[in-house]
This record gives sequence, C-alpha cells and structure tokens, in this order.
Amino acid sequence: MEYGTLGKTELPVSRIGFGAWAIGADWGQVTEADAMATLHAAVDDGVTFFDTADVYGDGRSERLLAQLCRERPSVDIKVATKVGRRLSPHVASGYTAKNMESFVDRSLLNLGTETLDLVQLHCPPTDVYYDAALFAGLDDMVQRGKIRHYGVSVERVEEALKAIEYPGVETVQIVFNILRQRPAELFFREAVKRDIGVIVRVPLASGLLTGKMTAATTFSADDHRTYNRHGEAFDVGETFAGIDFATGLAAVEELRALVRPGTTMAQLALRWILMFDAVSTVIPGGKNPAQVADNVLAADLRALKAKEMAAIGDIYDRFARPQVHHRW
Ligand SMILES: NC(=O)c1ccc[n+]([C@@H]2O[C@H](COP(=O)([O-])OP(=O)(O)OC[C@H]3O[C@@H](n4cnc5c(N)ncnc54)[C@H](OP(=O)(O)O)[C@@H]3O)[C@@H](O)[C@H]2O)c1
Repeated sequence: MEYGTLGKTELPVSRIGFGAWAIGADWGQVTEADAMATLHAAVDDGVTFFDTADVYGDGRSERLLAQLCRERPSVDIKVATKVGRRLSPHVASGYTAKNMESFVDRSLLNLGTETLDLVQLHCPPTDVYYDAALFAGLDDMVQRGKIRHYGVSVERVEEALKAIEYPGVETVQIVFNILRQRPAELFFREAVKRDIGVIVRVPLASGLLTGKMTAATTFSADDHRTYNRHGEAFDVGETFAGIDFATGLAAVEELRALVRPGTTMAQLALRWILMFDAVSTVIPGGKNPAQVADNVLAADLRALKAKEMAAIGDIYDRFARPQVHHRW
C-alpha cells in the first residue's frame, strides 16, 4: 500500500481507500457479517481511509465503521462522512448551517466520536456553492471542534472549481475513472495549486470496469444499477459513471487487451487513476474481502507506460467522451 496526505488537511491516508456505500444500502443485500469481514479485510490490507455518508442505509454504514474503529483501536483509521442528503425535499434552501449541524450531530453519534475527521457536503444543488454563509457556518463548526475538516462531494467539475474558492474547503470528492476523464483537465491543475485533497469515487464505474459484466447481467430491484440506470432516483452519473451500459461493455471489451497477465481489470482501472498525482486517494466500493484484496493490489502494480495511457485515452475518446465529457 502507498500512503500520502489528504491535501492541506494533512490527514494521513492510504492511496487506496474504501467506499462504504454498498455496505450501507442501494447495492442489494450485504449482511452485517459480510460487511464487517470486508471492513476488517481492508484494514488488514493496509487501508486506513474510509468514505461513508449519513444516508448510506440511513446510518448503517456509519455505525459499521464505528464498530470497525472500536475493533481496531491500534490502527489510525480516518473516516470521511457526508451530510445534506437527509434533506427532504433535497433543495438548496435546506443547506443552512443549522441543518448541517444537526446532521453532523447525528453522524457524531453514529460514528461514536466527539469530532468528525472530515465532513463533505453530499452533492448539493449547484446554487449551494454560491452560499458564502453556509461555508462560514462550516468554518464555525471547525472552530468549535465538532469537525476537523470539511470538503465537498461534487457532481460536476464546475462545482468543484467554485467550491475550492472557499479557503475552508480542503477536499473535493469527484467521479474520475477510465470512462470519466474530464477532471484531469483543468480541475486537477487547480486542485494541486491549492493543495486540495482529491478523493476519487466510482473508480470502477459501479463494477463495470472490473470486466465481470455482460449484456445478460442483471441486478436486484434494490440495487441502483437497476433503479437508477437512467437517473430515476439521483444523478445518473453515479450509476455506471453515467455511460450507457451497452457502450460501457463495448469499451470494456477493448480494455481487456491492456490487462497484463496475473493482474485484473479492476487493478488496471485503479492503477490508471493513481497515475494522476493530483489524486490523494481512490475509494473503490466493495462487498466482500475478495474484492478488497483484488483492489488494494492496484497500489503495487507498476506504473502504466505512455503507450498504455494513450490506448486508454483512445478508448475514452471513442466510447465515453461523446456521452459524458460535456455533462460532468
Ligand atoms: N454522491 C457521492 O458523494 C457518492 C456517489 C457514489 C459513490 N460515492 C462513494 O464512492 C465509493 C465508490 O463508488 P461506488 O461504490 O459507487 O462505485 P465503484 O467503486 O466504482 O464500484 C463498487 C462496486 O463494484 C463491485 N466491485 C468492487 N470491487 C470489485 C472487484 N475487485 N471485482 C469485482 N467487482 C468489484 C462491487 O459491487 P458488486 O459486487 O455488486 O458488483 C462494488 O460495490 C462509494 O462506496 C461511496 O463511498 C459517493
């Protein structure tokens, strides 16, 4: 495992982290025993950074992480959570400092701690990034010691660029993978300039970039890959990274030729992300210890060659760019 720091927060993080959405909900059933085994496997494999949210299983994911921290007291585990999506309706006017603090209070209870390491606004509506009073309220929560650091989880590059104008915003979480390459243009350069911690989510395009899916693959009714395939429940960019499933499968077929013997496509997809120095940590989700074991090995893979990077760029240009580049 490689380690680094999360931008100017200076929190130490493993470059391969863990995304704890699937162990909360929305990805079919994951038993509590499987979830805990997966989390322990991640720690055993050197993962020290975990991403969650107050809405993942309505707090289940946070509570499982609290249990992990209790069961592994000797490991310096950092947990990033997110707030905002408990608002109903989920509208910009709900993003007040007071509402965010009430969500933070609930996350403090769920996570069994007195201070949260990192709180991220959970993909708020775009107008929220123009509300300076909200960010002042977050600064105030840092001052009072409820949260150590805060950042944003964004849908779009433009939201990220606006958010990092606030000096208190120390991290940005964004979708970045072989099928979603636009953050590597302007945003990564600006993030490096300001020493922003960059957390990369949906690195496997919801599992598509593991190469295990076919046109016949189906998902359970409670899996967002069934119920959000066209953005019915939330931003479609969170499901298969926003690319049409059939086109994604066609891109994956071409990627197969780039997977070196003895390695997996998931490792290729994650190693590609780690080629970008702006990335502080990448947080693949996982539902069992075998997936975690596969994913963490990406940190040990040799760097991709220029020829391999160019081939991946070409696959992006032909399959994904026309669908995604102008959208996020
Ligand atoms: N709005 C937001 O802020 C937001 C949105 C999305 C995600 N996130 C965060 O980002 C994290 C990662 O994104 P994600 O979970 O959506 O997508 P992802 O990491 O691209 O895909 C994760 C899924 O792929 C499958 N998988 C993972 N590793 C595998 C392997 N080695 N081999 C085969 N299958 C594998 C698993 O599902 P199956 O086994 O069921 O296929 C797993 O749940 C989330 O957990 C969450 O913490 C945040």
